[in-house]
Amino acid sequence: MDNPMSLEDRVIIVTGAAQGVGRGVAQKAASLGATVALVDINGDGAQETADLIGGSASVHAGSVADPGFVQEMVNAVVEKHGRINGLFNNAGIIRTAMIHKMSVADWQAVIDVNLTGVFHCLQAVGRHMIDAAKEGDESPKRIVNVSSIAGRRGTIGQINYGAAKSGVLGITMSAAREWARYGICINSVCFGVVETPMTEVIRSEKFIDRTMASIPLGRISTPDEVAGPCCFLMSDTASYITGQHLNIDGGSQIGF
Ligand SMILES: NC(=O)c1ccc[n+]([C@@H]2O[C@H](COP(=O)([O-])OP(=O)(O)OC[C@H]3O[C@@H](n4cnc5c(N)ncnc54)[C@H](O)[C@@H]3O)[C@@H](O)[C@H]2O)c1
Repeated sequence: MDNPMSLEDRVIIVTGAAQGVGRGVAQKAASLGATVALVDINGDGAQETADLIGGSASVHAGSVADPGFVQEMVNAVVEKHGRINGLFNNAGIIRTAMIHKMSVADWQAVIDVNLTGVFHCLQAVGRHMIDAAKEGDESPKRIVNVSSIAGRRGTIGQINYGAAKSGVLGITMSAAREWARYGICINSVCFGVVETPMTEVIRSEKFIDRTMASIPLGRISTPDEVAGPCCFLMSDTASYITGQHLNIDGGSQIGF
C-alpha cells in the first residue's frame, strides 16, 4: 500500500533548519521522500542538518528578515531543484521581557523575524507557486506557517512573540483565501512546548512543573514528535485542508 504520508517528488523549503523543530521537520520530510532546501541564519548548523540527511539537501545561509536574501534563496532553490512544492515557514527567535520593561529594539527584532520574515518567505514562495500554477503545473503546493499556543492565548513576558504568532494566524487565513484559486493550501501549526535550544533557558524545574500541570498529556514534546503532523499537512492526505490552525500541544490549549 502507498504511504499516505509520502512526500516523494516534492521539493520543500524548511526555514530555521539548523536545529530544533526545523531540523526535525527537515529530517522527517526527507525520510518521507522529499528533497529539502535548508534555510538558516546559522549556515554551519544548516550544513550539519544537511550532513545528517545526506542526499540532495541544499543549504541556504541568510536571514528570513532580509527580503533580498529570501528572493535570492527562492531563485537558487528553483535553479537547483527545478520547483518548490512546500514551505515550512519556521524560523523564529525570542526576546523576553515584561511589557513595561520591553525595549522597542526587542519588540522589533521579534516582529522582524517571526512575522515579517514569515511574510517574506510566504510571498516569495507563493509568487513562484502562482507562476507555476498559471503555467499548468498541477504538482502539490503547500505552505505551513509556524505559530504557537502563545499566538492563541497570549503570553507573559513575551508580548512581541505573542503578537507575532497571532499575526501568523492572520497571515495564514488571508493567504489561504487569496491563493486557494491557485491550488495552494496554507495552514498554521501551533506548538505548546517542544524540547529545543529555544526552550532550554525556560525549561527550569519550576517552569516544567507548572507547565506539565497544564498539559493534559502530561509531557512536553520532541522535534520528532511534532514533525509528523507538520509533514502530514504537506502530504496528499491533507489536500482538502486550508486556512486552518492545528494545535500540536498535548492538549494544553483545551486544558483540563
Ligand atoms: N520550542 C517550542 O516550544 C516552540 C513552541 C511554540 C512555537 N515554536 C516555534 O517553532 C519554531 C522553531 O522553534 P525552535 O524551538 O526549533 O527554535 P530554535 O531556536 O531551536 O531554532 C530556531 C532556528 O531559527 C533560526 N533563525 C533564527 N533567526 C533566523 C533568521 N532571521 N533567519 C533564518 N533563520 C533564523 C535559528 O538559527 C535556529 O536554527 C519557531 O518559530 C518558534 O517560535 C517553538
